[in-house]
Amino acid sequence: MLALDGDFLQEMLTPREYPLVISGLSLLTPMVQATDPSITAKPFGTTSRGGKVTQHTLINAKGASVSIITYGGIVTSLKVPDRNGKLADVVLGFKTLSEYEKKSPYFGCLVGRYGNRIAEAEFTLDGHTYHLAINNNGQSLHGGLRGFDKVVWSATPTETKQGPSLKLTYVSKDGEEGYPGNLSVTATYTLTNKNELKLVFRAKTDKATVVNLTHHSYFNLAGQGSGDILGHVVTIHADEYTPVDQVLIPTGKIAPVKGTPLDFRKPMAIGDRIDTKDEQLKFAGGYDHNFVAAKLPGHLGLIAKVEEPKSGRVMEVISTEPGVQFYSGNFLDGTLIGKGGRVYGFRNGFCIEPQHFPDSPNHKNFPSTVLKPGEIYRNTIIYRFSTAKGIKN
Ligand code: BGC
Repeated sequence: MLALDGDFLQEMLTPREYPLVISGLSLLTPMVQATDPSITAKPFGTTSRGGKVTQHTLINAKGASVSIITYGGIVTSLKVPDRNGKLADVVLGFKTLSEYEKKSPYFGCLVGRYGNRIAEAEFTLDGHTYHLAINNNGQSLHGGLRGFDKVVWSATPTETKQGPSLKLTYVSKDGEEGYPGNLSVTATYTLTNKNELKLVFRAKTDKATVVNLTHHSYFNLAGQGSGDILGHVVTIHADEYTPVDQVLIPTGKIAPVKGTPLDFRKPMAIGDRIDTKDEQLKFAGGYDHNFVAAKLPGHLGLIAKVEEPKSGRVMEVISTEPGVQFYSGNFLDGTLIGKGGRVYGFRNGFCIEPQHFPDSPNHKNFPSTVLKPGEIYRNTIIYRFSTAKGIKN
């Protein structure tokens, strides 16, 4: 089968030629094909600090693929089939390392030590107040100025029974970004032969600290660069959420979703209620909220399901985490140009980030994010891809 990449063609041809050639070649669009699972590696540049970065591409037995770079553990591409077997890259991203370094809004990365916000960038643990880097409206967001998304991880590829796998490791030093304790982290991505992107985190510390790790792909199940995600139909298995203030810090309340535009217990298109008059939607400019997962804490359970009616692609999100941040890409503003040369406009991607609640270190009523020496931090996140014939919208 001739492997023709739409992104590549778009770069080679003029805007006038591209649609003509693409329509003529539509029969040659990459289709998913059973194959032997494989892992390949190639250089992906050098960071501004001199770190060499590698990109690994994992292909599973069904012919789906994921590319991951050692900088930030970033998923730079994820190709899964639509209902006709046609592959598309369903995550937003850049072509070059320097774009990831200079302007990424956390595209595809591993987030840590603390995913989401910590109010006024400080918390108190065992009587000591820790001051973190301030990087978001006076708050600390996603681990600070140089979080886990901006460091180079060590990588070990392995073929497993489940599918090709990449183990990433990083040791965050005591005091890094203001957090206590030397924290050793492993993040293992596996592209299973059931078309799941599975991410397993483990961490341990030598001093009490707080940990909240997650993954930050911006998805567009119709294909990255294909426009907004408002037609995607979302279900979130959550009866409650944690309301936020103007700077997106939780008020501390745990409120019912019932009767609000945050009620996704039944499938709803993202765009159906996103512009209704609602204080929570106004503060966030759309959806950017933590939902309380309706499942046993610590146990793997289905948290969310997203369906894209045109392509038929379906993504289920399964996780051990007590919460999930649903973010509708409200800060995308048309200034970023993606890997295929297309502009990423307002709400052109969405994130579903299973995690602990934001600002937990400052809220005793939220599940604890404290990790002590001798304990093992465990977190599993699975993005499971399939297709459906007819999806109601
Ligand atoms: C947060 C958003 C933030 C975005 C940064 C999301 O996880 O919820 O508020 O702007 O990350 O890209």
